[in-house]
Amino acid sequence: MDSEARDIMVEYGQFLFQRGYAVGTAGNISLKLADGDILATPTNACLGRLTAPALARVRLDGEQVSGEKMSKEIAFHLALYRARPDCGAVVHLHSTYLTALSCLENLNPEEAIKPFTPYFVMKTGRLPLIPYFRPGSPLIAEALTERLASGSACLMANHGAVALGKTLPEAVDAFEELEETAKLLFILGNNPVRYLTAGEVAELR
Ligand code: 13P
Repeated sequence: MDSEARDIMVEYGQFLFQRGYAVGTAGNISLKLADGDILATPTNACLGRLTAPALARVRLDGEQVSGEKMSKEIAFHLALYRARPDCGAVVHLHSTYLTALSCLENLNPEEAIKPFTPYFVMKTGRLPLIPYFRPGSPLIAEALTERLASGSACLMANHGAVALGKTLPEAVDAFEELEETAKLLFILGNNPVRYLTAGEVAELR
């Protein structure tokens, strides 16, 4: 039934935790099952210590059918699946460098990271920003679906980031590329950066 998907989610939760992208009980991930239901991490779960039976199976309308109490961010996960039929998985984390970036003032809400490496463009495309809302706020869903009408990643002010993909591995890869790009940005600091030109970005897109 859904046991393979549950195992994949446990495996990728451990991966994200071991890479240091998920800390404590922050973050949540979900994927779309073949029958259209969503498998999501429970609230207050450590992504490094997920168990298959605890994962919450949720209908697209928000009704929970099994598992432990679903993530408080389930509303935005479901909204993204409803808005984006091509979306098969959602990864939301408070990873260190993206969260640091999300706390900076005067970010460009259309493009919080100006492209300076090709893989950032190839794996995540563009990084828009939504305003700050408290974790679990139903307003996050509206802001994210608006910003993610296309594209695969979004920064959440003073909170973290979200990446989506056709599969969980794809969403995780996109998130990883994003986090490492944010890290590079902080390493570069005030050094003058050669950003990719518009032509170089267009070629990659
Ligand atoms: P949950 O533990 O409810 O999934 O919330 C964690 C989180 O990352 C909130 O943004």
